[in-house]
Amino acid sequence: MNSQKVLVTGGAGYIGAHTTIELVLAGMEPIIADDLSRSNRILVEGIEKIVGRKILFYQINCKDPAQLREVFQRHPDITSVIHFAAFKSVNESVQNPLLYYQNNIGSLLSLLQIMKEFSTTRLIFSSSCTVYGQPDEIPVTEEAPFKRAESAYGASKQMCERILEDEVKAWRALKVISLRYFNPIGAHPSGLVGELPIGVPSNLVPFITQTAIGKREKLTVFGTDYSTPDGSCLRDFIHVVDLARAHVSALQKIDKLSNRCEAINLGTGIPVSVLELVKTFMKLTGTALNYSIGPRREGDIEKVYANPEKAFQLLNWKTKLSIEDALRDAWNWEQKLNHAAY
Ligand code: WQD
Repeated sequence: MNSQKVLVTGGAGYIGAHTTIELVLAGMEPIIADDLSRSNRILVEGIEKIVGRKILFYQINCKDPAQLREVFQRHPDITSVIHFAAFKSVNESVQNPLLYYQNNIGSLLSLLQIMKEFSTTRLIFSSSCTVYGQPDEIPVTEEAPFKRAESAYGASKQMCERILEDEVKAWRALKVISLRYFNPIGAHPSGLVGELPIGVPSNLVPFITQTAIGKREKLTVFGTDYSTPDGSCLRDFIHVVDLARAHVSALQKIDKLSNRCEAINLGTGIPVSVLELVKTFMKLTGTALNYSIGPRREGDIEKVYANPEKAFQLLNWKTKLSIEDALRDAWNWEQKLNHAAY
């Protein structure tokens, strides 16, 4: 029986690479389309070492309909698409909003145009909890209203979800699941695939591991004057492998959902503070992390974590890996990266 062919745009990226692995393990056939502008071929090599076979990979600009069309012409049996290809740095998007609107919205519009040409009707969209802004109620459910996004990144994800809702109404065959990630962290336990921040990481965990390995002088905890138990922000940190597995579940369930356009939170439902995470990392790894307390970071929200119930109900999925697993895997990856010649 031919395995289901899935186009994974941005599949050489952090979450895309981990998802590609899980697709192979689930007996599907992923095809990666990625321009490598924010990633590196070493992740494709890492995927291939883990799954023990070559992965179809096209280095293309996913904003260009002509280049996307060529991939579909070579593989007209693509049944589904997982769309990761987007930029995701909150602060970069504040500095350069047009880059984010052109890239994140442009790539989705081109993809939908070509999917329609080839009657490819299943789409899993990579969305984000940033669409909520600072929710009035936490844990946050999918029914929470979109607040005004704090950044062009968050606004681009809100606009993409709106585009998908409208297109599902117009194109009666299209089925969409938008997966709203909370804070993905960690790496593949093999240490062959993980996060590859370009330049100085803005996200917490890569900054922690780079500080621990000596690439960064010191970690700054951005504010401990929030109204939280220890004063630092609360987040929902989810292991990237759990997150990847949710994409497989979404593909397996998409034809069975009663709604053709669903949004689903992907989180643990367990709030963890920045300081708790830092202390857990130090305890786990036996490293004395050099960190200090600094002022709040512009645009940060105080606390956000998921109500994960809908994912369990609709996808029969919930997180299985702990924050300790994620930090251990992140540290293992950082140490392997440090020894490699990347
Ligand atoms: C987490 C906490 C910082 C760095 C991310 C992604 C976004 C979206 C949601 C997927 C905050 C604190 C950080 C540092 C710190 N994910 N921090 N020192 O801002 O929650 O957003 O998750 O779409 O794309 O960016 O993640 O890791 O930047 O920050 O104290 O050096 O860690 O203040 O409270 P954030 P983050």
